[in-house]
Amino acid sequence: MARTPLMAGNWKMNLDHLEAAHLVQSLAWTLKDQGHDYSAVEVAVIPPFTDIRTVQSLVDADSLPIKYGAQDVSIHDEGAYTGEISTGMLTKLGCTFVIVGHSERRQYHGETNELVGQKAKKVLDAGMTPIMCCGEALEIRKAGTHVQFVLGQIDAMLAGLSAAEVAKSVIAYEPIWAIGTGEVATPQDAQEVCGAIRKRVGELFDASTAQAVRIQYGGSVKSKNVREIMAQPDVDGALVGGASLKADEFAKIVTYQK
Ligand code: PGA
Repeated sequence: MARTPLMAGNWKMNLDHLEAAHLVQSLAWTLKDQGHDYSAVEVAVIPPFTDIRTVQSLVDADSLPIKYGAQDVSIHDEGAYTGEISTGMLTKLGCTFVIVGHSERRQYHGETNELVGQKAKKVLDAGMTPIMCCGEALEIRKAGTHVQFVLGQIDAMLAGLSAAEVAKSVIAYEPIWAIGTGEVATPQDAQEVCGAIRKRVGELFDASTAQAVRIQYGGSVKSKNVREIMAQPDVDGALVGGASLKADEFAKIVTYQK
């Protein structure tokens, strides 16, 4: 069964709720003008928590085919966890996706593979789809041990999940040296690691799980490089940061235009 590509815009800590409304509307209009087929390529925006309610209202009011989600979530259901947001709060807002284990969460908030795996499980239990991030730093890439490193992250993140859960999840390979740097991995670099991840999922679970799981590439994806990246057999979409903040540019990425 063919995997439906997923283009997701990770807005990070950008845009307030008014700017969010503007961007989602512009994106929807632009994609409509271009006759975008959302069943052929899924589109999601991942705004800051404070924008989600606004995005939900717009998507519901205009029945927009754009999906949305959150950039992180707590492993707790409720209680004395100041600053945290639960999966229950996100499902109430109609979220489809939750990014877990982004390298910025790992770097600035000390998130480990084990915690990321727990978050992914929590997201799945709530009926949403985790976008589980992995990727190596520059020193690891230079040492040539990047595939081994990423597979170590995959083993640890997927340890508590069933084959059925992994099959409906998304994994995002984002080499840290390519994030926000303009230093995009070559399509071959992306394929090398995404292919290795799929192979590992096959070994950890089974062939049908490996065929089903969607694997995105992320790191300086732009309209000018997306086509070659998407042409790789094991790349099923992109997790886009900076370039997802402009409706025109993100629409071009979604439709793989130059
Ligand atoms: P970038 O970010 O596209 O700005 O490099 C990607 C990401 O961190 O998800």
